[in-house]
Amino acid sequence: MRSSDKPSPLQCDAPVLSQAIDYVLATPGKQIRAQLARASYGLFHSSISDGIVTVATAIEWLHTYSLVHDDLPAMDDDDLRRGQPTVHKAFDEATAILVGDGLQAAAFEKIASENSLSAMQRIELLQLLTRAVGFSGMVGGQALDLAGERQGLSLDALQQIHHLKTGALITAATVAGGICAGASERDLAQLATFGKHLGLAFQVTDDILDVTQSSEQLGKTAGKDLSSEKSTYVSCLGLEGAKTEAEALLRQALAAIAHYEQRAEPLRAIADQVVRRLH
Ligand code: IPE
Ligand code: IPE
Ligand code: MG
Ligand code: MG
Ligand code: MG
Repeated sequence: MRSSDKPSPLQCDAPVLSQAIDYVLATPGKQIRAQLARASYGLFHSSISDGIVTVATAIEWLHTYSLVHDDLPAMDDDDLRRGQPTVHKAFDEATAILVGDGLQAAAFEKIASENSLSAMQRIELLQLLTRAVGFSGMVGGQALDLAGERQGLSLDALQQIHHLKTGALITAATVAGGICAGASERDLAQLATFGKHLGLAFQVTDDILDVTQSSEQLGKTAGKDLSSEKSTYVSCLGLEGAKTEAEALLRQALAAIAHYEQRAEPLRAIADQVVRRLH
């Protein structure tokens, strides 16, 4: 379970939905987006605040919602997530849709209600995150991803999909840490550049892991991209080409935060983990 960022329990009067919420939050995943938000906040402050804890938790709820919907039969149709049956398998499709809808709303409500952040910070965070997960971000990317099945997409088209479906929320998580810290516009822009390269590196690595790891290791179905005839960095560039690209993107990400020197060590460690991870 979560340690430093324990979520306040999500209240729901519907018993089955309430069980499904507990089910999905009991396996929190790697928490990379929360880690990124906290580490970018840590560039500017040495001690953690209620505001960044709340925002990191809310971002993970948004990400978790995106996974629950990504796994639905109408989308990637996956049976396994974080080592256990997907929500629509353990419960039913309607429950999985509602869990996702509710997590998204709860994330925004949590940020809007965080009194330790100023009203302006809350508005900036909500604007940042609603854009990142909306039609011009994650949701738009998911639509393009689904429309691209069996299409043999160009690398440019694929890059756009990856930036949107995965990169947008990772970038926003990184920038959100800066907003919670009261960072300057210049710092926020540098964090966005870091997040953009790292977000793409994240999805390139996800494409690589889909073909190199087992379902047991991943906690989700391996080989799914091939069976769904998705275009991926591996199908476009080959396995070695995709690995080279992930390393190049990691270097570009690290260059954007080089000037933070020692303070950026936690961010660098997360960036390395994004590309070198095995699940
Ligand atoms: C998986 O994200 C979905 C993608 C955007 C590729 P993660 O690999 O961060 O999933 P969890 O949260 O650790 O389960
Ligand atoms: C998922 O991409 C992106 C989002 C959930 C927004 P994938 O479909 O590649 O993620 P996995 O491999 O199922 O985790
Ligand atoms: Mg998908
Ligand atoms: Mg998927
Ligand atoms: Mg994948």
